[in-house]
Amino acid sequence: MHDTGEWRALADHRQSLATVHLGDLFGGDPERGPRFTAAAEGLVVDYSKNRLTTETVAMLGALADRAGLRRHIHALLNGEPVNTTEQRPAWHTALRRPDPPPEVAQERERLTAYARQARDGRWRAVVNIGIGGSDLGPAMATAALGAYATDDVDVRFLSNVDGAHFRAVTRGLDPAATLFVVSSKTFSTIETLTNARTARAWVAEAVGPKTARAHFAAVTADPERAREWGIDPESVFRLWDWVGGRYSLASAVGLSLMISIGPDAFTELLAGMHAMDEHFRSAPWAENLPALLGLIGVWNRNFWGWPTHAVLPYAQELALFPAYLQQLDMESNGKSVRADGTPVTTATGPVVWGGPGTNGQHAFHQLLHQGADVVPVDFIGFCRPNHAYAEHHDLLMANLLAQAEALAFGAPDADNPHRRFTGNRPSTVILGDRLAPRTLGQLVALYEHKVFTQATVWGINPFDQWGVELGKSLAADIAGEFADPAVPPGTRRDSSTRSLIDHYLAHRDHVAR
Ligand code: F6P
Repeated sequence: MHDTGEWRALADHRQSLATVHLGDLFGGDPERGPRFTAAAEGLVVDYSKNRLTTETVAMLGALADRAGLRRHIHALLNGEPVNTTEQRPAWHTALRRPDPPPEVAQERERLTAYARQARDGRWRAVVNIGIGGSDLGPAMATAALGAYATDDVDVRFLSNVDGAHFRAVTRGLDPAATLFVVSSKTFSTIETLTNARTARAWVAEAVGPKTARAHFAAVTADPERAREWGIDPESVFRLWDWVGGRYSLASAVGLSLMISIGPDAFTELLAGMHAMDEHFRSAPWAENLPALLGLIGVWNRNFWGWPTHAVLPYAQELALFPAYLQQLDMESNGKSVRADGTPVTTATGPVVWGGPGTNGQHAFHQLLHQGADVVPVDFIGFCRPNHAYAEHHDLLMANLLAQAEALAFGAPDADNPHRRFTGNRPSTVILGDRLAPRTLGQLVALYEHKVFTQATVWGINPFDQWGVELGKSLAADIAGEFADPAVPPGTRRDSSTRSLIDHYLAHRDHVAR
């Protein structure tokens, strides 16, 4: 991409904006706010506080055309094998269509019936056991939609292999009234299987091994493995190899969420996702919310060179949204070879981070306002809260707007350098009506397609994640040494790892507390 005319034109254009301040851009155009605001499906995206002009937007659109974004979107939505390194589609959008493929519709019916039953009083708690994409999506969404959750079932999420997580998540639960959903696409992830085994022993101790079986359901693309593990076939729910873990919220991976909010609200979530999918398919670039976010991200990452991106939801219910986005974005676009195996020649995915406002204001916003690095920010807020504390909500939203204003315009004239704010720090404000299932679905699909837009421009495949494998195999090898230190390690150890292993083995203490 860097050797195309479109890329070079953007690089030159960026030079011409080098000394322009956001204050000047707003001063020169009283309509700048509305001019750089796009709205679709009830979401409003004000991107006017980014360092860009009408020309930039047009040039970014030309870059998208050059990258073949429209063609790639159709390939994605039509189920073509866009995951080229694994030769399969990444067809998560099929899961949320009102007319899904027959096997999806059939599985959804089974899932819905199971979720309704799970809500009928037998279980007081449901624990989803999964990690990465089999945890972050449903955990984030269950927290986000807490206002829509049943009070009858306590839905919790167990992910970390750290036994402290097992202890914390099961604390206060009655094993006789707890259902575990073992969620693993591969049904081979060590953390998940270790937690599942411990959970089975925990339940069996209370109700006996035979009855324990009824306390487990599974969600997987490998039903055979789940059955071999001991889960009743009627409690095993499928996803397909064409659903990537971090894109799987709309699949059976959403079972625990469905139990929490009910099948009807889950259907609303899917409808919101589908509406955003269709918008992405057809809207022109300048009105296309995911494409705009993606292209502005490219502008900030590649042309201004800013290496991180913060997502700050002004909604406590979205506290897990940044963590969810970290996997979505960083596992997808954290690549340095292109889909064809050649090295990239441009920067790719930024470090994505963030946390809920206003808490961050009293923690890391200092760096956002006065740090030596510029951090582009997405602020996310809602006009109507899911609670009755109107005063709180006004204050929350006033803070969101104030932060974006302060970042953009600063207080550059203060005499005291310690009290000076240079401003000119970019942000985008995303406003929704209310954080409801449909809105959340739109937000999720918005960011999924933002990530896809960027991957398309960078020429990388966002749907594989080979980068996680090396650590897994080394961990298995080291765990083997821990289990039997007499067995020679499968790989040669460096002197640092060697002596750390020796120190650990000499000092470890497995006494339960
Ligand atoms: O290790 C990374 C990863 O493969 C993620 O991509 C995935 O979401 C997670 O592990 C969990 O995988 P599984 O659902 O197969 O247990």
